[in-house]
Amino acid sequence: MERALALAERGRGRTSPNPMVGCVVVRDGAVVGEGYHECAGEAHAEVNALRGAGDVSGASVYVTLEPCCHEGKTPPCVDLLKERKPARVVAAMEDPNPQVSGQGIKALREAGVTVDIGLLGDEARRLNEVFIKYVTTGMPFVIAKCGMSLDGKIATHTGDSRWVTGEASRQLVHQIRDEVDAILVGSRTVMIDDPSLTARLDGSPSQDPIRVILDAGEYLDADRRVFHLDSRAPTWVAVPKGGACEAADSVLQVSTNGDGLSMQDLMKQLGSREVTSVLIEGGGATHASAFEAGVVDKVMFFIAPKIIGGRDAVSAVEGSGIEDMADAILLRDMTATPVGHDILIEAYVVKE
Ligand SMILES: NC(=O)c1ccc[n+]([C@@H]2O[C@H](COP(=O)([O-])OP(=O)(O)OC[C@H]3O[C@@H](n4cnc5c(N)ncnc54)[C@H](OP(=O)(O)O)[C@@H]3O)[C@@H](O)[C@H]2O)c1
Repeated sequence: MERALALAERGRGRTSPNPMVGCVVVRDGAVVGEGYHECAGEAHAEVNALRGAGDVSGASVYVTLEPCCHEGKTPPCVDLLKERKPARVVAAMEDPNPQVSGQGIKALREAGVTVDIGLLGDEARRLNEVFIKYVTTGMPFVIAKCGMSLDGKIATHTGDSRWVTGEASRQLVHQIRDEVDAILVGSRTVMIDDPSLTARLDGSPSQDPIRVILDAGEYLDADRRVFHLDSRAPTWVAVPKGGACEAADSVLQVSTNGDGLSMQDLMKQLGSREVTSVLIEGGGATHASAFEAGVVDKVMFFIAPKIIGGRDAVSAVEGSGIEDMADAILLRDMTATPVGHDILIEAYVVKE
């Protein structure tokens, strides 16, 4: 199963809106086939693993997710398994997709295949955290990312933020951009930094995320770089209902609240456009309203060994903040990883 999980990982960033899945076929103690879901719309892991595995009667099939039993862009894997008839299927976790959710296991058992569920289940759920959130709620998995100084600033009081963190952190951010469906920033970040928001990887092909910009005041300048890129991904602009943005490839008309555009409504609309993951890259006002709306699932804060200071310098999370410590947003499973001279703090938002 460890090998199957490692194979699944190879599909990261290329399978959306599908999960990453890996599969290994073992007969008489030897691996006779392996594969993974390489790209959305293409063969599932089981198909790739069983191809060339020969006679699998008596074999065990290790797969990181319950085999599917519904017709999607490719035929159900359960039908293939029933036809090839291995002795046993070991799945790391049940498929949370309501169209599957135990039905694949049931169908295999009815066909006389032994099915075991749960081997390395926690690892499998971590691998597919994006898919699980999306398929069970219709909302994207949201990561709040920023590069900040040790005193929590993401720019100086003049708005300068190039660069807070080091080269290694910035490379890692390009890797994450390559893996997510969309990247979201506030209009002030676009106006001040004029970023490209593309994924640029050293030496390997990359895939740009869809760029989404919040523009409640409709003052985004059409000259900004995000509207003139050589990129296969579009730039979408979120505006209030009835609003417009001529420079955008597409406009999302979103309801408003006291903070500007409703993050809940925006995420719902992104989900309905099959955006399964969103990387929020600031600035501070945008992070604040995402946290306040409860849409953030994970944080990735890169901390640089620098002090910026200044009460008017932008903090990682702006807004008006909470009054009582008891109301703080709590995080769990926090890890700290050195990245060059910086430290990456990753953690998950505790949901009520
Ligand atoms: N170090 C880093 O990781 C990093 C990353 C990004 C940015 N930055 C820095 O952060 C600074 C900008 O941050 P910022 O806090 O001033 O602005 P911001 O978050 O980039 O943009 C805020 C603007 O977005 C619009 N908006 C629309 N709906 C919103 C909503 N629901 N919540 C929040 N904003 C909404 C509002 O403008 P309208 O109402 O006019 O639309 C608001 O003024 C820049 O100096 C930039 O360099 C640093």
